[in-house]
Amino acid sequence: MPDRRSFLTSLAGAGAAALLGPAAAAARTSPAYLHPQGMARALDAFQGESRSPAEAASDEDLWREVQQAFTVDRSMVNLNNGGVSPAPAAVQEAMARYLAFSNEAPVHTMWNVLEPQKEGVRQRLARSFGCDTEEMAITRNASEGLQICQFGIDLEAGDEVLTTDQDYPRMLTTFEQRVRREGIVLKKFPIPVPAEDPVEIVRLFEERITDRTRLILMCHMINITGQILPVRPVVEMARERGIPVIVDGAHAYAHFDFDLDDLGCDYYATSLHKWLFAPFGTGFLYVRHDKIPELWPLMASPETLDDDIRKFEEIGTHPCANYLAIGAALTFHQGIGPARKEARLVHLRNTWAQELLQEDRVHLHTSLEPGFAAGIANVAVEGIEPGELARFLWDRHRIIVTPISHPDCRGLRISPSVYTTAEELHRFVDGVRHAIRNGVA
Ligand SMILES: Cc1ncc(COP(=O)(O)O)c(C=O)c1O
Repeated sequence: MPDRRSFLTSLAGAGAAALLGPAAAAARTSPAYLHPQGMARALDAFQGESRSPAEAASDEDLWREVQQAFTVDRSMVNLNNGGVSPAPAAVQEAMARYLAFSNEAPVHTMWNVLEPQKEGVRQRLARSFGCDTEEMAITRNASEGLQICQFGIDLEAGDEVLTTDQDYPRMLTTFEQRVRREGIVLKKFPIPVPAEDPVEIVRLFEERITDRTRLILMCHMINITGQILPVRPVVEMARERGIPVIVDGAHAYAHFDFDLDDLGCDYYATSLHKWLFAPFGTGFLYVRHDKIPELWPLMASPETLDDDIRKFEEIGTHPCANYLAIGAALTFHQGIGPARKEARLVHLRNTWAQELLQEDRVHLHTSLEPGFAAGIANVAVEGIEPGELARFLWDRHRIIVTPISHPDCRGLRISPSVYTTAEELHRFVDGVRHAIRNGVA
């Protein structure tokens, strides 16, 4: 007979709190509006699905089950799922249960019972990403994982960090603080929009390397355009020169189908509240085994943890419920299947993009060629400011989009998700057409 503790560990992340005790049993009577059984129905629909991901991508009956697994407000159309994603009901419910159990006696239930269960989530994340469990840290978001790397690698005044001007503003701010504080040098360069030549991207990094270059920061997927960058060849080129590459995977993990073997990098951080649909405030940091001892954590940890990936999780008292509910989100993601999810997100993007491209004044800042982007794309309408168009779509049509005003690219970033319906995309297309024909005044 497994004891209570090992039994719970074996259930990591799968709503185990339902089995924990009276208060958790009470919490199981969660609000009816959550409909957590929606996930089970969705996953049933994918069982035995034998068509190719591309074929399954356009089967609206199949995806209707996935749409029902969420609790989103259908009176509006949310096309900013890249910012942060709603979680399916079953993920919300798992989190609520873990939180209720935590509150029974947190020093015991949260610290002694639930916190050790994080190891099960670590294992599952590592398997999904394709690394060793001992290389996987669970963080609060991509910002935390990236800043661990950005601050944790020693640099001296005059040392150069190379990145692009399309990297995420907070990550640029992080290095800019080191510029002010320590006198390092930050070199940024523009990436073509769109970028369909991986060899050119590698060359753009390579030709800026000097004998003072100590570090490269690059995005796996650029947030303003959805552009996917060729991580592996950049990492290989940099490794030959002894330069580590920090990869910002905030938008990539669980969005399109890849694993660590495709990247070969030493440092990778992502958020899990974007495309994995895990609770808000979840992310992971991968650090290759032999790089762990030399990377400083953001918050100090004891010397005994120097070569332990858990040193990056020494952040003081923190909630456990959100971390454990990552398990439910992983189950949902794996039940759909990463390749099928990617294909559906590409299908949704193509649905709206191909319709809008029939308009003369519409331009895409994102490649529709396979491998260069997935569910996110950036669209511009000639003669209408992105901010004005976004305001119009919200005021007149209750559609949420993200206006982007970047020197390399001005337009609307559109990021539907697996719960987005075809009708919602048609409403968006009609809204933009309305703006084109009649203006946004
Ligand atoms: C490319 C990129 N990096 C990092 C981040 C930071 O993510 P988070 O706010 O979840 O830490 C974002 C957020 O949108 C992003 O787009």
